[in-house]
Amino acid sequence: MAQIEVCFTPEQFSFYENDDAVAVVIDVFRATSAMCVAFDNGMKEIIPVERVEEAIDYKKKGYLVAAERKGEVVEGFNLGNSPFHYMNSDFVGQTLVITTTNGTRAIKTAGKRNEVVIGSFLNLEAVCTYLKEQNKDVILVCAGWKGRFNLEDSLFAGAVVSKLMGFGFFPEMSDSSIACKHFYEMASGDLCGFLANSSHRRRLGTLNLDKDIEYCLQESVLNVLPILKNGRLVNALKA
Ligand code: MLT
Repeated sequence: MAQIEVCFTPEQFSFYENDDAVAVVIDVFRATSAMCVAFDNGMKEIIPVERVEEAIDYKKKGYLVAAERKGEVVEGFNLGNSPFHYMNSDFVGQTLVITTTNGTRAIKTAGKRNEVVIGSFLNLEAVCTYLKEQNKDVILVCAGWKGRFNLEDSLFAGAVVSKLMGFGFFPEMSDSSIACKHFYEMASGDLCGFLANSSHRRRLGTLNLDKDIEYCLQESVLNVLPILKNGRLVNALKA
């Protein structure tokens, strides 16, 4: 029977020794949500990088580059992590290089060992449909915040567990997946309210990014499935 586990920070990923599992990387606020929006708007591929210095090197080579730290666009860059930056037909067929505080680090960490799929509330249904089809073990990898647990990524992990069960797919649950499922089922009537005092919600609120938060909490509104292939994310559902 397939197993499903939640890894709460990229720093803990090495403890989840399971090379055959599908790793779903989650950064609800906002990296993986923004990536889903970019693909929905026709982006061809996304190259995640960990360090700002790498992003600068790509920029010098003429690439389209986005960089975010602590929720803000890094000085010298025009694009960051807001889903609203990518709601634009200018991106059709383009390659984007992106670095973010936690999200791109989580992708790079999981991608060294496992197949990686990008998850957000926006593409919840597409992710769960894929996981059910694969019928493999799953590690839900939360980006967290600088090595710490966060509520929104754990809620999404719970949404995946809950939805998979709704699809009639019953993986073997770990304590982490049971806890996250309870979280999600407690919060699902009002995700925004449940997250009212969460740390990154407050951080983004002070940056006047409440509209990003509301946008990122919509469920299954985008039919995209970003997957990592040779270090680049592509949309597996692109016709
Ligand atoms: C991250 O990668 O830590 C986040 O996406 C930060 C943000 O919301 O900008």
